[in-house]
Amino acid sequence: MIQEIIVTTTNEDGSTHIAPMGIREESELIVIAPFKPSATLENIQRNKTAVINRIDDVRVFAGCLTGRKDWPLAPTEKIKEHRLEGALSHLELGLERFEDDELRPRFYCKQVIEVTHKPFQGFNRAQSAVLEAAILVSRLHMLTEEKIEQELEYLMIAIDKTAGENEIVAWGWLMERIKIFRQESNKEKIA
Ligand SMILES: Cc1cc2nc3c(=O)[nH]c(=O)nc-3n(C[C@H](O)[C@H](O)[C@H](O)COP(=O)(O)O)c2cc1C
Repeated sequence: MIQEIIVTTTNEDGSTHIAPMGIREESELIVIAPFKPSATLENIQRNKTAVINRIDDVRVFAGCLTGRKDWPLAPTEKIKEHRLEGALSHLELGLERFEDDELRPRFYCKQVIEVTHKPFQGFNRAQSAVLEAAILVSRLHMLTEEKIEQELEYLMIAIDKTAGENEIVAWGWLMERIKIFRQESNKEKIA
């Protein structure tokens, strides 16, 4: 099973890098697999630590994909990193093993500590729709206009029926990004 979370790592200048990633568990280790090139990749290679943030505020996912990376942070407990202040829970990780690959290397990490901050609130369809739309936005250059339209039309149903304030804001940021992409593609077609 793959779980969509936010990885926080520390940049060379001491600032925190925030990136949505899909992680999985293998033989009690957490596997993080960033596509090259990636700041997350460089940071974990250098520091040998990372933080997994489980968060239901989907604005963070949509924000990272649309240039909004300034989210409130808090220091971690056992390792020298930062976590998202809004995380429902977080896992502090230490690097155990690295498997290099031309396209997508893998970090196998061991849990140092797991801390719960807030209870799980239950599934929300609009949150899932925002995640799907965020993935769509990360692949716009690989998809046809028909495919994008078709997917958005379906995802909109969950937004219309079940979204709260955060989901509406996150959805808006993603739609704005798609609009800009469409305008740029049209300009290229005309030129
Ligand atoms: C839900 C979701 C899951 C993602 N999972 C991954 C992943 O597993 N690996 C990856 O390289 N990028 C993934 N991405 C895209 C990255 O978040 C994005 O490309 C980011 O900029 C990674 O590069 P960075 O480490 O330089 O920030 C995902 C994006 C979303 C919205």
